[in-house]
Amino acid sequence: MNILITGCKGQLGTEIHKIASTDTLHNWHFTDVDTLDICNAQAVENYFETNKIQVCINCAAYTAVDKAEDEPDLALKINAKAPQILAQTCKKHEALLVHVSTDYVFNGNGTSPYQESEPVAPQSVYGSTKAEGERLIRESGCNYFIVRTAWLYSATGKNFVKTMLMLADTRDEINVVCDQKGTPTWAYDLAEMLIHLVNQNGLNPVHETFHFTNEGIITWYDFTVAIMEIAGKTCKVNPITTDQYPAKAHRPAYSVLDKTKIKNYTNRTIPFWRDSLVKCIEELRLKLKEQA
Ligand SMILES: NC(=O)c1ccc[n+]([C@@H]2O[C@H](COP(=O)([O-])OP(=O)(O)OC[C@H]3O[C@@H](n4cnc5c(N)ncnc54)[C@H](OP(=O)(O)O)[C@@H]3O)[C@@H](O)[C@H]2O)c1
Repeated sequence: MNILITGCKGQLGTEIHKIASTDTLHNWHFTDVDTLDICNAQAVENYFETNKIQVCINCAAYTAVDKAEDEPDLALKINAKAPQILAQTCKKHEALLVHVSTDYVFNGNGTSPYQESEPVAPQSVYGSTKAEGERLIRESGCNYFIVRTAWLYSATGKNFVKTMLMLADTRDEINVVCDQKGTPTWAYDLAEMLIHLVNQNGLNPVHETFHFTNEGIITWYDFTVAIMEIAGKTCKVNPITTDQYPAKAHRPAYSVLDKTKIKNYTNRTIPFWRDSLVKCIEELRLKLKEQA
């Protein structure tokens, strides 16, 4: 199949690139905003037409959660209107759209893992724009998988793991919130699952929404303690409450996603968060060694 990856220089796109580099099943087309701006409907249409795209995995997004509060129009353009363009183009070309969404579509007041069917109630601009993107994709009538994920990290780009490791090298102690629960997700594990969904489905009609994170439930504090332990850092981690760490955008207190549906659908097991964190930190270590 001819597969288009948008936003390929981001965390998820980079991991898909790595996996695709040893794949001989498909023709892969990797693009980012410099080569294909997904907000440009004519450019998207031309790309699909020229390259006979059959599957589009949309890794492009506006992911700056706090900044989105000040740039709602830009966030809406990239997270909702552009996915609508991709969906309408997929519909026209009978292509499959694989789109990634977020735990932030929920209000975060839950006490048990969120199922796909639960009503969305986003509490931030970022969450609202991602929820609207989902709605517009469903409305388009194209074939789609929408996969909601959370707490994404990798050895590429900006993310929580890399920020904590950087702080550990410059500070003796750091304060991290201990009253927000969720599950980290290594972008590599998500990339593998998305490619599996594409291979399993082929070009058959499909309209499915799934949840995917790593296994386990922790707080940002627990996550940070594990990062320090695995990376061998001595920086002390202090637990604080959300009130003690004001941020522009509201953060969900509970954003655990129920993954039963995707596990049953694909018959795959999902790695435990700590096992994947070990692999990512090892990758970061090797990267640093190569650069030295
Ligand atoms: N990061 C998380 O913690 C998290 C959590 C839950 C869900 N998600 C979702 O997971 C998906 C992947 O996230 P990620 O962390 O891999 O994102 P990312 O690292 O921020 O990458 C997004 C990529 O999209 C590119 N992009 C932005 N606007 C574009 C446009 N108009 N056309 C084409 N490309 C464009 C960005 O380029 P620039 O860098 O130049 O803007 C960047 O390369 C997103 O849908 C995100 O909403 C992420």
